Amino acid sequence: MPRKKKEKKMELKWKTAFELWEERRNIKRLKTGTPIDELIGGGIEEGEVVEFYGEFGSGKTQTALTLTTCVAGEMDENVLFVDCEGTFKPERVVEIAGARGYDPEEVLKRIHLVQPLTSDEQMEVFDQIPKDVKPKLVVVDGVTTLFRQEYIGRENLSKRQGLLRQFLRKMITYVRQNRAFGVVTNQVYGNPDGTPFMPLEYRELAVGGHSLYHTIDNRIFLRKAKGGTRIARLVDSSRYPMQERPFKITEKGIEPIESEES
Ligand code: GTP
Ligand code: MG
Repeated sequence: MPRKKKEKKMELKWKTAFELWEERRNIKRLKTGTPIDELIGGGIEEGEVVEFYGEFGSGKTQTALTLTTCVAGEMDENVLFVDCEGTFKPERVVEIAGARGYDPEEVLKRIHLVQPLTSDEQMEVFDQIPKDVKPKLVVVDGVTTLFRQEYIGRENLSKRQGLLRQFLRKMITYVRQNRAFGVVTNQVYGNPDGTPFMPLEYRELAVGGHSLYHTIDNRIFLRKAKGGTRIARLVDSSRYPMQERPFKITEKGIEPIESEES
């Protein structure tokens, strides 16, 4: 009888809390000079995925484009931009880059864009990143959009949630292993149990619900406010206090609002 091949043992990596502390002291953050930095301890950390969610026009894509331009222009690093809604406009990047004093053409060359048309294509993204790209920032704009369009109705909900979780696992693994910054944007739906007396972040819930709650640590809710301004509110974080900051959308992308303006 042929001898059974011995299964290869999985090697677990152990470290002391001191070693982790030392490692974490060298962790870089994505500093943009926008209010987003202040909400999450100085900026997105290497290896971390942050979610921005809110209704249409709340500023999700503009926030993603500002972070993208900062990484490509200020840090001279590559960005992987997964545009699931087909709304990416290079002209807007040129405007933001110019207003922030970066070379717009250099910035555009550092942005590696993919526009999946189906959720199957979206699922492939992290298996097909070209070797030489090595993105420092990975953005998925409209992370739930294609799944939501294709898996309609209650009977498809668990399949949709399962695939979404699978996609996020792939993204989180990639971001952690490559010490990249991760950003996803997401739409909202009306909470069926919501009442007009509830704060807006309880009336408008992020699509994907628990699939995302348990995989993404920092979630920022964006909403429209008076005079065309916007408010970013950290609603779910295990590390930072829940707080909010106003911002405006300008030629620089997103910018803080000085106190006399608000
Ligand atoms: P959906 O993708 O529709 O769910 O919305 P979103 O949250 O991604 O909104 P987005 O960030 O695209 O736009 C927010 C707002 O930014 C818009 O309502 C416009 O007021 C503003 N905006 C969009 N494009 C530009 C631009 O090129 N220049 C300036 N100054 N403002 C813009
Ligand atoms: Mg958008």
